[in-house]
Amino acid sequence: TRTQVGIIGAGPAGLLLSYLLHAEGVDAVVLETRSRAYVEKRVRAGVCEHPTVELLREIGVGTRLDAEGLPHHGFSLRFDGQDHRIALTELTGKSITVYGQQEIVKDLIAAHEAKGYPIRFEVSDVELHDVDTDNPRITYRDSDGAAQTLACDVIAGCDGFHGVSRPTIPADKVKTFDREYPFAWLGVLAQTPPSHEELIYTHHERGFALHSMRSPEITRLYLQVPSDEKIENWSDDRIWSELDVRLTTNAHDFVLREGPILDKGITPMRSFVTEPMQYGRLFLAGDAAHIVPPTGAKGMNLAVADVRVLSRALVELLQHKRSELAESYSDTCLRRVWRAEHFSWYMTSMLHVDPSADDFTRRLQLSQLRYTASSRAAATSVAENYVGLPFA
Ligand code: FAD
Ligand code: DHB
Repeated sequence: TRTQVGIIGAGPAGLLLSYLLHAEGVDAVVLETRSRAYVEKRVRAGVCEHPTVELLREIGVGTRLDAEGLPHHGFSLRFDGQDHRIALTELTGKSITVYGQQEIVKDLIAAHEAKGYPIRFEVSDVELHDVDTDNPRITYRDSDGAAQTLACDVIAGCDGFHGVSRPTIPADKVKTFDREYPFAWLGVLAQTPPSHEELIYTHHERGFALHSMRSPEITRLYLQVPSDEKIENWSDDRIWSELDVRLTTNAHDFVLREGPILDKGITPMRSFVTEPMQYGRLFLAGDAAHIVPPTGAKGMNLAVADVRVLSRALVELLQHKRSELAESYSDTCLRRVWRAEHFSWYMTSMLHVDPSADDFTRRLQLSQLRYTASSRAAATSVAENYVGLPFA
């Protein structure tokens, strides 16, 4: 079979790209190794930037997001037992929306289904061929195990950090930038109302903790743990008592609400960028091209920003035979990618406890927290990055 754009991966990047392309009359097929049920249940990011929300609304997939998403006009930095609110809307005129990534994935899959746009779930043995020619191909096995070939004009690698797309680029054609952190996040989803109406990013001597939510009934919480930590070491009781120690403060009437834990897992933290994000007729987007540590809530939003640029470039290339936007795809995206890399690294460094940091570094960190909390200029800078800079 043949399509114009073969898209590998049905995460936010692949699904949104497919939807944007079909809307402009470009034919695309999405290939996904996991089942539909699996990708719809996978708990990940929760913060949608202002530009992400606007885009989803504009293309008509924002109905449930508008009905069920929670608009947030600020968040708190909690340190020294005190809350310091970053007033997002007052400082920037914009807000963010708390709406689970898997809800966006569900909405995009439903929108594909309604319009008959193809997504092939449960495929295997996905391989890319001839990406440095004008006739790239994808071979794979379909959900019945039958061998298939998809001939394409372009391949979009939207298959996440552990996908097969990025490794098909010869090593001497890309430069990668990498940083690992000496900690990870243990995340839990709990069936209990949030303990506070806004997110709380907490710097505590025992490590970072984050209070977030998914709905008025569901809380999302994270704890900094060592990078080699095993989830088996964390019973539900231990998780609640550690969250309680780090989040509880006497300065506010904050009481951590506990409840049944519905999901828990550990996410490693790293920064990673591939340059360029393109090789021949293969374009990388989202986590396939770059990773940020989650502290700035930028991962999913960057994936959305990438495919907005990519969809325009591919419409120009495939419908109007104009290649300028395709040629500048990587440069255009990397400007936003590096801004998000810096912001995510900055928020991570400011809020976590680095076990190897010396006393001098710890004093600098505390000073940065105090400055961010007390200076309108510093808070505005954090707020402007957090709500999302305008698309290019
Ligand atoms: P993905 O969502 O990873 O989608 C890639 C898709 O490709 C997947 O569905 C995968 O199954 C599929 N795939 C992989 N290999 C193949 C193949 N060979 N063939 C076909 N399909 C393939 N960000 C935050 O901001 N906050 C968070 O709390 C947060 N938590 C996270 C927790 C985890 C465990 C992970 C992995 C990421 C988390 N992120 C978080 C980051 C955020 O979720 C990602 O940035 C976002 O998912 C990127 O979207 P994507 O579409 O590029 O990639
Ligand atoms: C959530 C995740 C983040 O990485 C973040 O910075 C804020 C909130 C969340 O899952 O709710």
